[in-house]
Amino acid sequence: MLKGQEIVKNRAEIIKELNRAAATELLAAYRYLFLSKVATGMHGREVAEKFAEMATGEWGHVATFLDRIVQLGGRPFEKVSEAEKLAFGKYLLPPKDATDWKRMLKDSIQGERDAIEFYHDLLEKVHMDDAVTMHIVREALEDEVEDEHTLASLLD
Ligand SMILES: [Fe+2]
Ligand SMILES: [Fe+2]
Repeated sequence: MLKGQEIVKNRAEIIKELNRAAATELLAAYRYLFLSKVATGMHGREVAEKFAEMATGEWGHVATFLDRIVQLGGRPFEKVSEAEKLAFGKYLLPPKDATDWKRMLKDSIQGERDAIEFYHDLLEKVHMDDAVTMHIVREALEDEVEDEHTLASLLD
């Protein structure tokens, strides 16, 4: 076993949590990309630009978590169809009304709040045990805090 894996005591547990994170980020990335394409109306298009940026950020999180799972000797989840079950938050379907950018923002804020809570708790779990995962999760947490703030400011 690699030394980098050996130093992490509760590896299996951390890999499990990272898989949940990766699944949720995958759904979030797709959801934001979807919203960025379908949102219509003057404000809707403005909001859509932000969603497009955020989608890129969430895809980045997917990659980061998959990298870390593999680095720890784990295997990322394979069945994309299981992402919703694995995810830590509820997947909120985009509103039927493509002009309802307020609903889009509100639901997205909820998603970011779920992520902030999950990463905050995960930080406590990996604290001391796995400094590398801690660093990654902390960066993701920083991004989600920024996302929540950005989305909330668009709603004002
Ligand atoms: Fe994310
Ligand atoms: Fe986010």
